[in-house]
Amino acid sequence: MAITMKAFDVALQDLDGKAHVVLVEDGFKLEGSLKEVGERHFSNIAELIQEQKFTGKQSEQLIVPSALDGVSYFIMVGVGKPKKSGNLSIEGLRRAMGTVVRILQAKSIPSMALQLPACSRYDKTGDYIGQQVASIIAMATYKFDSYITEESRHPEKTIEVNLSVKDENQEAFNHGIEKGLEVGTAVNLARQWVNTPPSDLTPAGFAEIAQDMTKDTDVKCTVFDDQKAKQLGMGGLLGVSRGSLEECRFVLMEYKVSDDAPTIGLVGKGITFDSGGLSLKPPAYMETMKEDMSGAAAVIATMKVVGKIKPNVNVIAAVPMAENLPSGDATKPGDILKFYNGKTAEVKNTDAEGRLILADALSYITKNYKLDALLDIATLTGACAYALGPYFTGMMGFDEDLMDTVKQAGCNSGDKVWRLPLDSDYTAAIKSEVADLCNIGKKSVQAGASTAGAFLAAFVENDTPWVHLDIAGTAFNVPGVSYYRPETATGVGVRLFVDLIDNWA
Ligand code: BES
Ligand code: ZN
Ligand code: ZN
Repeated sequence: MAITMKAFDVALQDLDGKAHVVLVEDGFKLEGSLKEVGERHFSNIAELIQEQKFTGKQSEQLIVPSALDGVSYFIMVGVGKPKKSGNLSIEGLRRAMGTVVRILQAKSIPSMALQLPACSRYDKTGDYIGQQVASIIAMATYKFDSYITEESRHPEKTIEVNLSVKDENQEAFNHGIEKGLEVGTAVNLARQWVNTPPSDLTPAGFAEIAQDMTKDTDVKCTVFDDQKAKQLGMGGLLGVSRGSLEECRFVLMEYKVSDDAPTIGLVGKGITFDSGGLSLKPPAYMETMKEDMSGAAAVIATMKVVGKIKPNVNVIAAVPMAENLPSGDATKPGDILKFYNGKTAEVKNTDAEGRLILADALSYITKNYKLDALLDIATLTGACAYALGPYFTGMMGFDEDLMDTVKQAGCNSGDKVWRLPLDSDYTAAIKSEVADLCNIGKKSVQAGASTAGAFLAAFVENDTPWVHLDIAGTAFNVPGVSYYRPETATGVGVRLFVDLIDNWA
């Protein structure tokens, strides 16, 4: 593992590390171990802090090189002011941690002794804080540099963290840290798949990765190929895949802890490249369309964590994978497809392909499994990205309780969601004159994210409680977040799913 991290019931000044790093809230006082460590590195640290006007604003940094044990550093990073409630913000802590990792990487500092604000300042347990900090450290160290040959552009990804948790619950922290590293590593795995060029991550290749990943774990993985999809009547998946030389795949992953445990279903959109098909995208919109399997990546990476943490709920994942390309054999606007559940849809726009492959996956999973909850995750609509921007995933559904639960998981994990509307008015907008459904909404209704949600809803069988997550805005190139990197994948969804599964009552 690239990150080694452990919590110790030891004061900061007694922990090893090339840097002593302290996160402080805005308006902090120089006292206790902070004062002691600071003065060890720089005798008149109080003056320096004043002179630099460092107060601890969100992600503000003070980097003090010192001659203690050769070249070493004393680093302070701000976590900002408390919220109205009086508690500090967890996202503030995450962003500050991301900033710390960026400093360590920029200065090639291989290890740190770290001190955080007290858990009580967040009104959270050591387990939770440990998990958050560890997952962010793992996420922040990641960079997609597999295709960069220049060594100098590869940051150091190995970091040793010794966390001082004097007067806190050391055991709880270490428990959280272990899980957090697992989650952060899985987020990075999802990001790596998304970032991989589309010609190097095809449906068949991606399915094989999923299968290899589950070897020797408690997760069973079954892969359906073109032939099997045809047998099963998955006309949506096949219809989208037709124009491509690459075969489609349908990946089914099952983690079963017991017959009586509740069962959660996950479905992820796995379009390994979306050109739009014959309804071809303009070049600028196509540039990043390798990201169109981000939902699939989140689901598969989540199953990796599930195999490790072995939760007390069953988890079933269905991931349809295809490439959406134009060709002499591609699905044409006007074509009508028939899905796994027997419904039909007129394809008016071949660029609205995500809902077509998800339709087969949703109907397959809800017809073959009794699910207590079903979540799908997809880079589904530009409309959602326009409406919410890059910081909130769009959430739609009919089940208020499940949406509340998902919203809470979003808050806990940092994968924030915001609700968009869904009701029968949007269903009316996707009626077709020549088939059961049309794959795009009527112009007069607009609301592209909601009409897409309404389309998916038609394939959720057996009254399964269901929530749809549209990550078109949040999956890729999210600016201004210290633990992400520009113009690459975020791994959105993994943290939310793990939190949801882990806390399912
Ligand atoms: N994959 C795109 C949606 C998307 C857009 C993802 C931007 C990430 C960033 C999806 O398949 C698509 O093209 N949707 C169309 C639907 C329309 C034709 C009804 C869209 O949103 O424009
Ligand atoms: Zn599309
Ligand atoms: Zn797409």
